Formats: sequence, structure tokens, C-alpha cells
Amino acid sequence: MTIGIIGATGYAGAELIRLLLGHPEAGNLILASGSHAGERIEDIYPALRGRLSSVLVSPAKAIAESDCVFAALPSGVSEQYAGAAVDRGISYIDLSADFRFDDDEAVYSAWYGKPYTRPELRERSVYGLPELNRLRIRELAARGPVIIGNPGCYPTGASLGCYPCLARGLAGEGPVIVDAASGITGGGRELSRSFHFPECADAMSPYKVGAHRHIPEISRNFSKMAGRPVQLVFTPHLAPMNRGILSTIYIPLGPLPQGLPSDRPPSPENAERAGEIRELYAGFYRDEPFVRVLPQGAAASTRGVRQSNYCDISVHLDQTGTTLIVVSAIDNMVKGAAGQAIQNMNIIFGFDESLGLGGIPAAF
Ligand SMILES: NC(=O)c1ccc[n+]([C@@H]2O[C@H](COP(=O)([O-])OP(=O)(O)OC[C@H]3O[C@@H](n4cnc5c(N)ncnc54)[C@H](OP(=O)(O)O)[C@@H]3O)[C@@H](O)[C@H]2O)c1
Repeated sequence: MTIGIIGATGYAGAELIRLLLGHPEAGNLILASGSHAGERIEDIYPALRGRLSSVLVSPAKAIAESDCVFAALPSGVSEQYAGAAVDRGISYIDLSADFRFDDDEAVYSAWYGKPYTRPELRERSVYGLPELNRLRIRELAARGPVIIGNPGCYPTGASLGCYPCLARGLAGEGPVIVDAASGITGGGRELSRSFHFPECADAMSPYKVGAHRHIPEISRNFSKMAGRPVQLVFTPHLAPMNRGILSTIYIPLGPLPQGLPSDRPPSPENAERAGEIRELYAGFYRDEPFVRVLPQGAAASTRGVRQSNYCDISVHLDQTGTTLIVVSAIDNMVKGAAGQAIQNMNIIFGFDESLGLGGIPAAF
């Protein structure tokens, strides 16, 4: 089939190209750019030399000539192209936030500063976290073209880390706290001072504390998974690495029992309870091709998932046994963006969900 990529010159676009070149159903790629039309992709990404020498075309041409389109554009820019794709009867897989909020336009416009321009398109859109919405994606695809609101990178890691615990009612009162660190590619290819090498190399910094745009998406996912409102505290950090997101998540299980000191080493019962919760996670994700629940005692790391579509999860308890600590690791460019988008394409077209996504993580 012929696949269009709009925003092909950005990081997520380039990652889509890399992965789709290894996808057996992606016979032909049409690459589109607003600012580089007429240039060759290999001159922008020399890594593609000898593998793909396509000339970049306009977004309109990519939509007109493809069987399916990926859009790797900034939020607020992507929505305008979705209507043209759906009008042509083809699915549109959007990596921006423009279709992540379904009918909740008020939340989208409050965080992204813009109303929906075509609200009716939400009838054809679905939030594309396959582990949560696989059936809904299939149902919509059976009835015509689909618009996928591909999840954000932080929301993917945080949501997969919490899903079993929230869905099985383990979380007690109090906020779920997510501390997450992202590689620098998370900010895209556009230049900005905080992403300048001397500013971010050899240092770690929080940013957009209490104000990051992924807050409403994570919070909405948590509440859906739990079936009740869940309070979120989220702090993103910039880590001196190219790829990866490591999320350390604190979930309250219950209050500290009266008289129990909080400074004692963990009891043997603690280890047993942690093992039970780990088993619950492993069972919950048993049939998921891209979620790996690590053995008890291991800790998830971005090193274990680099360049792959895996989400690695490790489950721990604090020393009092009253806080569940979950660590999740993804590659922000793959499970956090392009890989998950291809997983969604596979679902829409009825391919094996893992098709073209079998790459083994690069361990170093
Ligand atoms: N990077 C990640 O880890 C990640 C993870 C998940 C989701 N996402 C989302 O995926 C989308 C693409 O992210 P990215 O990291 O690939 O960003 P990027 O590197 O900045 O690329 C975005 C591309 O969009 C095109 N574009 C079209 N209209 C534009 C406009 N008005 N302003 C700026 N660029 C415009 C540009 O290409 P042309 O000028 O060639 O058209 C640009 O190369 C974003 O919505 C982002 O939030 C990114």
C-alpha cells in the first residue's frame, strides 16, 4: 500500500520513515513537507542515503495519492489536514494532540489555546492507546476511515504503568504522582534554548512543572482506567539522552497503619505483597505484544527499550508497603510516537499488530 507522511522532516516523521521502510505492507512512501517541498529527504537525513531518495511533496499531494496518512505535525496544525483525508475515505493517524480529547473540546482549547475547527470529525476519531482502545479502533475502522489521536509520549508511559493498578481498584485515596524524565528528542527538531547542547548536556532539569500539556491527557486516562476521578501530580524532566522516557510513579495503596513506623526496613510480607502485585500486572498484560512486566527485583530502564516499541514495567513497594512504586520505560520516538502510530495502522488494516515492529531494542 501507499502511505503518506506529513511532517516527514521532523523527528517523529523521520522515525516513521525508518520503521515503515521495514514494514512489509508499506510498499510506497509519499513524504510531505510544508517548508522543504522539492528537496530530497536524504539531504535532510543523510542516514537514509541509499535507502530512500524521495523528493518531498506538498501535504495535499500526499493525501491525494495515499491509502493512509500519518501526520507528524505540531498540535493545532494537524487538524486542518484530517478532514481532507477523511473526505477522500482514507484513515489519518495523527501524532499531535488535536484528536486526543474526543468530544472534550473545552479541555483541549484550555490547554492548547485553540477551539476545534471541525468538531464533527470527532465522530470518526479515537484515542489510539491500543492496550486501552483496541476494540473501539477496530469497530470504527469497520465502518470507514478512522482518525487516530495517537497518544502523547509521557501519557503512554504513565498510563501503561498505572492501568492494571487503577483498573483493578488497588489505588487508595490521594494523588498519583508521576515523575518522568525524557530524552531531548521529545522536544522535536525545532531549535530552542533549553534544548541547546550546553544547556541540557550533563545536567537534568524539571520543566513546565505543574503546567505541562500532557497533564489533562494523563489525568483523563487515569480516571477512565479507574472508573472514578483520579488526582494527578506530574513533573516532567529533561534528561541528557537522545531517546527514552523513564516514569517513576507513586500510587497510594492506603494509609500507614496506626503506630507503624515508616523508617523500618521492608518486612518479608512486603516482598510477598510486591510479588502478588507484580503477578497481577503480568496477568493483566499477558496478551499484550509490547508490554513487558519485568521479574520481581528488576527495575525498568530506558536502556532496555531503546529503538523498540516495548514498554517495560517494574513493580515495587515502598518500605512501609503503603505506596506502590511503578517504573515504566519507553522509547519516546517509538512506543511514545511512531511505533505506536504504526501499531494503530496495523489494527485499522487488520494486519498482525506487531507487523513491522519486531525490532529488538539496542541494548547500548
Ligand atoms: N518527539 C517526540 O518524542 C514526540 C512524541 C509523541 C508525539 N509527538 C508529537 O508529534 C508531532 C511531531 O513532533 P516532532 O517531535 O516530530 O516535531 P518536529 O521535529 O518539530 O517536526 C514537526 C514538523 O512539522 C512540520 N510543520 C508543519 N507546520 C508547521 C508549523 N506551523 N510549525 C512547525 N512545524 C510545522 C515541520 O516540517 P515541514 O516544515 O517540513 O512541514 C516540522 O519538521 C508533534 O505534535 C508532537 O507533539 C512527538
